[in-house]
Amino acid sequence: MRRWPEKYLSKRVHLPVMAGEVVGLLKNCPSGVFIDATIAEGGHTLAVYDAYGDHFRYFGFDLNSRVLDFARKEFDSVCLDAELVKLNFSEIALFLQRREIDSISAVLFDLGTSSYQIEKPGQGFSYLKDGPLNLSFNDDEKMAAANLIENLSEKELTDVIRLYGQEVKAKRLAQAMKSSPKKIKTTAQLSGVIRSVVGDRYFVKTAARVFQALRIKVNDELGNIQKSLESIIPILVTGGRVIVISYHSLEDGLVKKIFKKYSGRCVCPSNVLECRCGKQKLVRPVHSKPLYPSRVEVARNPRARSAKLRVVEKVAFTS
Ligand SMILES: C[S@@+](CC[C@H](N)C(=O)[O-])C[C@H]1O[C@@H](n2cnc3c(N)ncnc32)[C@H](O)[C@@H]1O
Repeated sequence: MRRWPEKYLSKRVHLPVMAGEVVGLLKNCPSGVFIDATIAEGGHTLAVYDAYGDHFRYFGFDLNSRVLDFARKEFDSVCLDAELVKLNFSEIALFLQRREIDSISAVLFDLGTSSYQIEKPGQGFSYLKDGPLNLSFNDDEKMAAANLIENLSEKELTDVIRLYGQEVKAKRLAQAMKSSPKKIKTTAQLSGVIRSVVGDRYFVKTAARVFQALRIKVNDELGNIQKSLESIIPILVTGGRVIVISYHSLEDGLVKKIFKKYSGRCVCPSNVLECRCGKQKLVRPVHSKPLYPSRVEVARNPRARSAKLRVVEKVAFTS
């Protein structure tokens, strides 16, 4: 398996997860457009460029302008001519259509938050650092999660925490948030409320689940993944690949289901009599099971520990 080029490792805050696997999986991809749908600090695209150079024409998307600026500087320093755009990845197919680009060779989604978003308190992604309670990938927004807590009813907030955080104390947490005498505006205030419900012992796990739940809701993460994959798969060239690295079971479950549906297999609930899921045979799974990072990688980069990689390849049209 190809290792990520050492020359990029020393100065980086964010090590791209499973970059060797990503590079290896693109080996026989036809030349053409390579899309990094979640470019952040640009680590994966740099690794792909290092391996394949002008075999691809590079596009990168992200909702965070700061990381896009960072990636731009990195790319300039290695003369990588990539088009970097601030855009929700759910709009990529539309963007390409407007640019009259009608096919893609490969797409990578490395879901979740970048190191920048976690490290910088102003982004409000970490319960360990105080900052405005935002949690939006889009840095034009400032208080998205705070507004969400204020605008949802207690029942809706309970559902969000239960569904997206898989948290058993969802009801008590939502009650405490909604009955807070002042609007919860910062990560520290939210952490205080969580601690008041579960105590010090369970604080870290519960806070991680609550922050995850709010983040998924604020960013409509699952909706965007679905919209993006469903619009991108049809415009892949034959032999082109979609690679998705996900970090929690809700994301991975959705990706698995979409890949299954476009591999021509029914994903209807077991109790329906007639298939209505709209399955189509457009891709084939490259591996029957997800790939995981090596132990060496996890030791070097703990952020990789929960990563799962799935990949499909576009098949020739069959009638
Ligand atoms: C884990 S980071 C990607 C890291 C990158 N692969 C690297 O190695 O440097 C995920 C990035 O996806 C971005 N992101 C999340 N949801 C997005 C969406 N719907 N549209 C565009 N970017 C999104 C986040 O802002 C974040 O910068």
